Amino acid sequence: MKDRQEPDQLDELGDTPPAIFRKQLHQLADWIADYREKIGERRISPNAKPGAVLAQLDVASPETAAPLEEIFTDVDRVIVPGVAHWAHPQFMSYFGCTTTNPGILAEMITSALNVNAMTWRTCPAATELETVVIDWLRQWVGLSDEFEGVVYDTASVGIMHALAVAREEAAPATRKLGLTDRGLPRFRIYTSDQAHSAAEKAAIALGLGEENVIRAPSESQFRMDINSLGQSVAHDRQSGFHPMAIVATVGTTATASVDRIPEIAKICREEKMWLHIDAAYGGGFAMLPEYHWITKGWELADSIVINPHKTVFVPLDFSVLYVRGLERLRRVFTLVPEVLRGDTIEGEKNYMDYGIQLGRRFRALKAWVIWRSLGRAGVVARLREQIRLANLLADWIKKDDRFELSAQPSMGVICFRFIGREPALAGGRPSFSARPAVAPYQTDRSNESKLDQLNSDIVERINTSGRAYLTQTKLCGRTVMRIGLGNVLTTEEHLRKGWDLIRETVAAF
Ligand SMILES: Cc1ncc(COP(=O)(O)O)c(C=O)c1O
Repeated sequence: MKDRQEPDQLDELGDTPPAIFRKQLHQLADWIADYREKIGERRISPNAKPGAVLAQLDVASPETAAPLEEIFTDVDRVIVPGVAHWAHPQFMSYFGCTTTNPGILAEMITSALNVNAMTWRTCPAATELETVVIDWLRQWVGLSDEFEGVVYDTASVGIMHALAVAREEAAPATRKLGLTDRGLPRFRIYTSDQAHSAAEKAAIALGLGEENVIRAPSESQFRMDINSLGQSVAHDRQSGFHPMAIVATVGTTATASVDRIPEIAKICREEKMWLHIDAAYGGGFAMLPEYHWITKGWELADSIVINPHKTVFVPLDFSVLYVRGLERLRRVFTLVPEVLRGDTIEGEKNYMDYGIQLGRRFRALKAWVIWRSLGRAGVVARLREQIRLANLLADWIKKDDRFELSAQPSMGVICFRFIGREPALAGGRPSFSARPAVAPYQTDRSNESKLDQLNSDIVERINTSGRAYLTQTKLCGRTVMRIGLGNVLTTEEHLRKGWDLIRETVAAF
């Protein structure tokens, strides 16, 4: 970026003079617009070793002011080349990147305002917009109005808060007295072997213990096995544990599978356990009538987390925790420091009361801007396009005998595996719909482990090429490749290029 302020233009104190700042903003606007327009021409991830970024920078802490021109030169020279460009249309790893242009604009306004949404008074608009966007999303996914929510940075933080309420209800007065020296039983949380590790993180943070998160196996469609779950709960109850909560998933990290919520909810009801639904990824798809089936049983949950930063086009970070009866959450976390007493007005929502964070970003603004600028219809159309692309890729995979689908394509996620030049190498082409829990991957262990290595090497080679970026994961103990779509910039042409690259890479092994 050119034409930054000169050192002699810097005031000793105060901020950049307005005229200079205006010019810088225009330059930055051009920089961002260029970045977005030409992002597809970039290498996706740097071909560098750890430490490469720091090796190019002066890491001594700055004693005196540097001209902004010099700082931005370093941004262009070192920082941007040191970034993995998640918003690149051929970055198809994890879940699709949710950057949108309206989101970028909204983030700029948020940083200019830089308000702290602790209480209604400290920023009425931030509080009221937070309530509004939480309610829009609730209506869009068809959740009953018994649920109200709060915005956190991430789903991991959401689940921790949900389980804190579950813990308080299982062991009243824990908020006040803690867990120790009260003769309490060991509390247990159940989830599936496909669930995200956020459940364990929450157990660690809440003093419940990582080992008290019990992972039930999943069945053929990577859904939690209900029989095993029921047996674990019953066995633990008989052994003196206190089954406290079940974490079911709608859109698992590896395959976007959807647990059978109604059956899980039944166990929760019978056993008086908290039901948390981790819909961090999958929740947004409930906006589509054809995906409405995923919401079956949601009305029986105690809490549900949805990450618009994974599916609903809000840039990182933005996660909503819904609780049936939000007051249950407030009771666990409300605590008014003296310094804020004057700013807590009775009858108004003060979002600091709903979690451990006091200072809170004005996250609602970006959701409000993006969702208004796309409209529900625009969000739905984009989600449908992701699903169309995911199914298209699945068709290409099915037509190439060197590959197999490793799971039913779900939402924007496709898992597949290179099975070798000769289909016979993996013992024929299995049908994922009839897949038993572990076979057929066990038909020939020696070949299968070679294929594991090959699949891993293929992903590694593609990722280091800088031309596409995929994930590798394990399913039924075997290494598979995984693609997660969702970026609004990813078109059919990008997907085709990504698939061509996979096939080229495979052919070169
Ligand atoms: C199913 C699921 N739940 C929770 C999380 C954690 O999300 P966050 O990064 O918002 O904490 C992830 C992350 O990928 C996920 O896939």
